[in-house]
Amino acid sequence: MSSNNIESVLIENRQFPPNDEFAKNARINAEKLAALHHHAETDYTGFWAQQANEMLDWHKPFSNVLDESNAPLYSWFNDGEINVSYNCIDRHLADKADKNAIIFEGEQGDTSFITYKDLHQRVSSFANALKAKGIKSGDRVVIYMPMTPEAVIAMQACARIGAIHSVVFGGFSADSLRDRINDAGAKMLITADGGQRGGKIVELKSAADKALAGGCPSIENVIVYQRTQHDIPMQAGRDSWWHDAVANQSDDCEPEWVNAEHPLFLLYTSGSTGKPKGIQHSSAGYLLGAAMTNSWVFDLKDDDVFWCTADVGWITGHTYVAYGPLAVGSTIVIYEGAPTVPDAGRFWKMIEDHKVTVFYTAPTAIRALMKLGDSYPNAYDLSSLRLLGTVGEPINPEAWIWYHKVIGKEKCPIVDTWWQTETGSNMIAPIPGVIATKPGSCTKALPGIIADVVDDDGNSITEANRGGYLVIRKPFPSMLRTIWGDDQRYKDTYYPKFDGRFYLAGDSARKDADGYFWIMGRIDDVLNVSGHRLGTMEIESALAAHELVAEAAVVGKPHEVKGESIFAYVVLKGERPAGGVDEELTKTLRNWVGEQIGAIAKPDEIRYSDNLPKTRSGKIMRRLLRTIANGEEITSDTSTLENESILDQLQGKA
Ligand code: WTA
Repeated sequence: MSSNNIESVLIENRQFPPNDEFAKNARINAEKLAALHHHAETDYTGFWAQQANEMLDWHKPFSNVLDESNAPLYSWFNDGEINVSYNCIDRHLADKADKNAIIFEGEQGDTSFITYKDLHQRVSSFANALKAKGIKSGDRVVIYMPMTPEAVIAMQACARIGAIHSVVFGGFSADSLRDRINDAGAKMLITADGGQRGGKIVELKSAADKALAGGCPSIENVIVYQRTQHDIPMQAGRDSWWHDAVANQSDDCEPEWVNAEHPLFLLYTSGSTGKPKGIQHSSAGYLLGAAMTNSWVFDLKDDDVFWCTADVGWITGHTYVAYGPLAVGSTIVIYEGAPTVPDAGRFWKMIEDHKVTVFYTAPTAIRALMKLGDSYPNAYDLSSLRLLGTVGEPINPEAWIWYHKVIGKEKCPIVDTWWQTETGSNMIAPIPGVIATKPGSCTKALPGIIADVVDDDGNSITEANRGGYLVIRKPFPSMLRTIWGDDQRYKDTYYPKFDGRFYLAGDSARKDADGYFWIMGRIDDVLNVSGHRLGTMEIESALAAHELVAEAAVVGKPHEVKGESIFAYVVLKGERPAGGVDEELTKTLRNWVGEQIGAIAKPDEIRYSDNLPKTRSGKIMRRLLRTIANGEEITSDTSTLENESILDQLQGKA
């Protein structure tokens, strides 16, 4: 692993304790936090049982807490019954019926407000529409939607009837959508006539049609939400409009009580090899993590307005938009468009307009907006803000300090939250009223999360600042249950080392002298582009699928705004272009990858060579390619290279 250069990392020493006012009013104070940690450390299952009883409403109480008999296929609360949608909506109707659950703003400035009572009606009638189309508990439903309240309604409606949703991010291509539909064996696709972004229509329905034309035998029905009103073809017998589907449905729908372990959703994520993995989450354990962290880390209280800018196509949009904030009865903001329309002040204007109190976004967005200057945020009243968050990749101290000063006016704690699609909810993050923050560190593990940094043999690394594998030592309720249809891959991916004793996160990390965690990056070949995990393998296979390409290798290159940009080395079947440059072909290949996977996976740079650097055993030397992509001097031993003469080509010198 690439942790041996850790000593050269600049140690960041600044510390920012929460201000008194925040600390005084926070849900969790120092005493409470100490008690939670103590409880979790002395009575692990008792701790989780208490949280599950306090945070969730159960239809049938559980008596089992953690079942380890089939480890690492763990289960939690597995004799209890629950409904996630009931917990997110119905239980708030007694005292919050007229409170806004959702504040929505479209890119063109159209706004709408959905109270808990409205949400209950809309989720129920859509749930009834799903049932009318034959969807039953356990059926899979793929959701390919713009970032509108209907995406959340569709997710909640599935949860209400026990259907398992799988949201596919609207930026994914038809081919990616088809693969995910087929892997999940989905019976229904919910999409829209389009989305609105950057002043243009995102053609979701045509991508969906293309996906289905490519062969999705399990799909029986398609429901199409009308967002843009532009003309799209509807296939008779298969497609129906959302508004027609709900037209005659009752707005009351008894929740389907499911076992705590009933799968709530699948969410596909990149791995280092092969096809995307369908990360399978449970109902109760997942919701517990979501509710707990929205309460503890985001400190959500009755008068908060929470805006998490993530799309529901990613895990962050599941846990901190569609489920968690609603589970704790909060108000969420949803925005459909781009952050720079009509200008880079859009986020800040929306914070002023909707009096957002808690704001959660990604370092890549912070860096992009920071670059455009302080005049945008300074033009708006951001005084409603009291807490800021970041997620998705390590945040560089410069961006952290800007976020702290220019957005938070030095009074808002920043919660840098480390977690993953697989963990379901925040794992390592500051409790904002207690833990002093350090720019670039996600600080300490939450109560009940036994995180550690270990060496190759699985021993805890006690020496400060020495890098190692980030692991979670004990199973926890919100963790993934398996990879859909592939228990073996689940075991191989997350429990490949240390005799299966710990969950292997796939990140490297170090702990400083205060026990703070610092994430160093992925240990495998997954890229982190704008906070999204992309497998190098997938991009390489997409490139190699083009008729002109023989072979490709993809590496990440640090990028000011995106975190990492994608650098591809391509070997063509025919002649290498003169000087290794062919702009026309580069454009073609970029678009090709965009079609195969989606625009976010397009390589930023492509360099053509006659061959790829390989070890004698045929492994691509990615570390070398990374060095070259970064324009750094090659210091590693290249004598084992099969074909050392290609170095000049790879470096763009020949
Ligand atoms: C990275 C997103 C540093 C990490 C919720 C992890 C982070 C991967 C942070 C998961 C953070 C996420 N600091 N790195 N605060 N948050 N990461 O599945 O490499 O899209 O393993 O989940 O993002 O990405 P995923």
